[in-house]
Amino acid sequence: MSVSSSHNAYLNGEFLPLAKAKVSVLDRGFLFADGVYEVIPAYAGKLFRLQQHLDRLNSSLTAISMKPVMSDRQWADVLNKLIEPRGQSDQSVYLQVTRGAGKNRDHQLPSEYQATTFAMCQAIAADSLDKISRGISAITLDDIRWDWCHIKSVALLGNILLKQQACDQDCTEAILLRDGYATEGTASNLFIVKNNQVITPPKNHNLLPGVTRDLVLELAIKAGISATEREISEQELFDADEIWLTSSTKQIMPVVELNRQAVGNGQLGDVWRQVSTAYSQFKDSLRTQ
Ligand SMILES: Cc1ncc(COP(=O)(O)O)c(C=O)c1O
Repeated sequence: MSVSSSHNAYLNGEFLPLAKAKVSVLDRGFLFADGVYEVIPAYAGKLFRLQQHLDRLNSSLTAISMKPVMSDRQWADVLNKLIEPRGQSDQSVYLQVTRGAGKNRDHQLPSEYQATTFAMCQAIAADSLDKISRGISAITLDDIRWDWCHIKSVALLGNILLKQQACDQDCTEAILLRDGYATEGTASNLFIVKNNQVITPPKNHNLLPGVTRDLVLELAIKAGISATEREISEQELFDADEIWLTSSTKQIMPVVELNRQAVGNGQLGDVWRQVSTAYSQFKDSLRTQ
């Protein structure tokens, strides 16, 4: 049975209107950013790459010494109930799990805890995706974040301060540099194309193992495009024919300008067109399933 359309949030077992969802000020998510999250798109009422997102959620929970809060089947049930009343419209589902509220503020991890489990959904704006697909500008910045970027932690202060520097320079994203290598964006994974070869940095603690990243690699290989996972030096980034940034809600963003210089010929790349078309076809095939 689906829930009422005004109930666009889920909190600890209950579906309710978002404005009514409240957590304690002692919640460790609020006090310490002691929690993890996921963002999952739903196209035409179908959750996209749900299993991959749930697998990453459980890896993030394990990495911060928390246990899964519910089974994959239970998550699917909760998230489907949230999106069902919204029909065929494209939605973005946000879910967050924190270590819950203790009796007082204590840095030490509690031996027992009651996790706070929250989810909400909102419409994906088609016009912003259209704008992105015409090409975005980015800047490079030193990665000031911590060393465990493979965890999808709610501690996003580093990411948002870096993103703001990009916004202040009228750019959509910042591409982050660590020890002379480009790793990822503040909320996206990085790809470059050089001589028709697609390159993305390998998964390690410097970047989030993106669900879109994996799918883009898979689709490029299926389309017969040469694709490899290896480090990308700062110089290679500037010499790239094409640069893309990927994420679940923004898909494959073509970067046409980097630090005010044209990327390649400054136009949308041929390889981007090919992979982006394959991505749209993959999405469309799910709509009709
Ligand atoms: C830092 C970072 N890297 C990469 C990504 C892309 O991950 P996904 O494709 O799973 O959305 C995100 C998404 O929010 C992110 O925050």
